Amino acid sequence: MKYNFDELVERRGTDSVKVDGVKFFFGRDDLMPLWVADMDFRTPPFVLEAVEQRNRKGVLGYTFAPREWKKSVVSWLNLRFGWEVEKPWIQNVPGVVPGMALALLCYTKPGDAVLIQPPVYHPFFEIVEHNGRLLRQNPLVFDGENYVVDFEDFEKKVKGCKVFLLCNPHNPGGRVWSKTELAKMAEICARNHVLVFSDEIHADMYHKPYLHTPFASVSSLAAENSVTFMSATKSFNMPALALAYTVIPNEKVRGQLLSFLDGLHLSFGNSYAFEALMAAYTEVGRDWLEQMLSYVYATMDFMQHYFETEIPLIRMVRPQTSFLVWLDCRALGFSQSDLRSLFEEDAHLALNDGTMFGKEGCGFMRMNVAAPRVRIEEALLRLKGAVDKRFPKGVR
Ligand SMILES: Cc1ncc(COP(=O)(O)O)c(C=O)c1O
Repeated sequence: MKYNFDELVERRGTDSVKVDGVKFFFGRDDLMPLWVADMDFRTPPFVLEAVEQRNRKGVLGYTFAPREWKKSVVSWLNLRFGWEVEKPWIQNVPGVVPGMALALLCYTKPGDAVLIQPPVYHPFFEIVEHNGRLLRQNPLVFDGENYVVDFEDFEKKVKGCKVFLLCNPHNPGGRVWSKTELAKMAEICARNHVLVFSDEIHADMYHKPYLHTPFASVSSLAAENSVTFMSATKSFNMPALALAYTVIPNEKVRGQLLSFLDGLHLSFGNSYAFEALMAAYTEVGRDWLEQMLSYVYATMDFMQHYFETEIPLIRMVRPQTSFLVWLDCRALGFSQSDLRSLFEEDAHLALNDGTMFGKEGCGFMRMNVAAPRVRIEEALLRLKGAVDKRFPKGVR
């Protein structure tokens, strides 16, 4: 490997939410942080270099978005997903979550209903409820292996909604939705006049043989009736730069959002972030991404074997994308607070409590494995010790 993903990078003292935030969010600072979805790997050198180059120009005055940034996006989406988009369809926003919140304010009114599919990334709940919109839920169904959509319930719940927030691919379940599933959701939403927001922040990180399909690419119905949210920040470990973008093929739908954003004077964006995106969306970037993904994949192979042989009461739901592992801990038979205490008090690990993603996450925990392998090995050793203490040999 050209890049060293085993390197232990010191993140303490950098105002890192994941590392320095443990004390604030967990009330103690002796836990190994395996929660917030960024990587403990060094941000790629070509991204850091692009930021430094921008800095070396010496003046940080008002700056346009570089003319070339949309060209980088167009070519990346084409090479990575075979998705042909046009430059005018693309608009920068200050992050996927802020972008979706802004779009909700643009396309809906207070009291309008918005559909989500829990268990799902927790800000999906927050941006709806905090902005006075009504949450409707079409829970995903765990079929023992993976999450699938309950289409009968979807048909019922989507009626009367203004927007459907799709997590594509899905976090925390790690599902890469198939073209058939996406096309079916697209058809139902179009028929019911429900606009689809497709959060595709994890899109780049599919694990072969899975292949990400941009929602808007599955059919013309999907293209005409959707707003896609993408970003380079998740796949290249640079969320501090706060840049995402929307892709909206439909001119009318696009015009509405652009005019709303114009009124908020948000279009300048962050110069460093554009430079970083352009450095990442390249051949060199693709090579780093593939190496990072094979490192994470090998970590997950190791984990899967470890859980099966050493901690069989916890089942790892193997993600089809990205670096977030959903752990099915239901066989332990613990209440959620007991489960948290197993991870925090006994194993000294900071994971995301499954119920953050909705009540369907009860009995689950989410583990971020984008970290040097020794850390993951240490975490599993601690977890095994904690489980063995609760279930001494012979009791299982
Ligand atoms: C599904 C999903 N959407 C959005 C985000 C955050 O996006 P941003 O940092 O661009 O607001 C995350 C981060 O974990 C995520 O998992």
